[in-house]
Amino acid sequence: MRTLISVIGARPQFIKAAPIEMAMAAYPDIRFLSVHTGQHYDDNMSRIFFDQLGLKQPVANLQAGSGSHATQTAQMLPGLEALFLEHKPDMVLVYGDTNSTLAAALTAAKLCIPVAHVEAGLRSFNRTMPEEVNRVLTDHISNLLFIPGNVARENLLREGITDNVHDCGDVMLDILLTSREKALNGSAPAGSWYYATIHRPYNTDDPQRLLEILRIMNRLEHEVYFAIHPRTANLLKQYGASLEDYPRIHFIPPQSYFDNLQYLLGCERVITDSGGLQKEAWFVQKPCITLRPETEWVETLENDWNQLVFHDLEALPSALSKTPGEYRAGVYGDGHAAERMAALINQYLNPAAVSHG
Ligand code: UD1
Repeated sequence: MRTLISVIGARPQFIKAAPIEMAMAAYPDIRFLSVHTGQHYDDNMSRIFFDQLGLKQPVANLQAGSGSHATQTAQMLPGLEALFLEHKPDMVLVYGDTNSTLAAALTAAKLCIPVAHVEAGLRSFNRTMPEEVNRVLTDHISNLLFIPGNVARENLLREGITDNVHDCGDVMLDILLTSREKALNGSAPAGSWYYATIHRPYNTDDPQRLLEILRIMNRLEHEVYFAIHPRTANLLKQYGASLEDYPRIHFIPPQSYFDNLQYLLGCERVITDSGGLQKEAWFVQKPCITLRPETEWVETLENDWNQLVFHDLEALPSALSKTPGEYRAGVYGDGHAAERMAALINQYLNPAAVSHG
């Protein structure tokens, strides 16, 4: 029996883990354990995803909570080390680019436990983003690298990483395709409106910028449903912002996976700085405006399906009015990424069984 520990902790990781947990069930001689770092802890940032997506209960929650990058990451390391020593995993599986990703990869690598990285090879080339640092470091200490598409392969090649790089497609497409039906049964608002989410520090941590974003969103052609991340909500409170000043913005709480899909499917356009939502918008062919100077999901920019608006926020209305060109499907796989990853994990952990099978 081999043991695989999947480390999750932040909202996007619960989503990415779900299809992989399911696909790993095809390999009953690999014991699948999950560990929650506790990076996200509010019910609507964590528990609701376990409930909706049927995720396994983690063997432990390290309750790392919030804090500075150093504090948050440091909170995770000893707990992860103790768990890895206790359960002796043959491989640790990490997702994306959060502080939980780096903490788990680092702890495993120092214990000489192989690391598999889901969403390897993504680059924004902006080292001021904490996620970029997390991605680069995680890729360089990973033994199995699951990339979502060809651009990621080129990025890794540029850094000299060529071994064990596998283009499996994107797991968020897997889960979206199997969940779409459920989301269609829900009740998104009627009429024409935009769906927004904003939580990146460079949009939220300067009060002037965040308030400017709200001011501009408040006078767009359509009203905006703004699912407000706790980081953004806390900062708005701190800045003394009065939400009544923005009557054309509906401030709604962070959405569950299915509810987020409903908003996505029901809106005219998406306005976001989230990596996940950019991609989900692209999957369902919904034009997206990304309030960032760059994106790691560069394929989505083709023919204006995704447009970057950052330095000149006044460009938002005209970007929203553009109609995208031709849509190129298939660049992030075919919805079977998790099955490929599970097979590769099995091959890595049970090479003899695979070659004799
Ligand atoms: C983290 C990830 C980011 C990812 C995002 C998804 C890092 C460096 N960043 O950003 O890549 O896109 O998750 O949501 O790992 N908070 C709560 N309740 C919670 C969680 C957070 O109130 O359950 C508040 C706290 O005030 C906290 C702040 O949100 O300080 C930021 O949380 P944190 O986990 O540090 O980063 P995110 O902005 O969520």
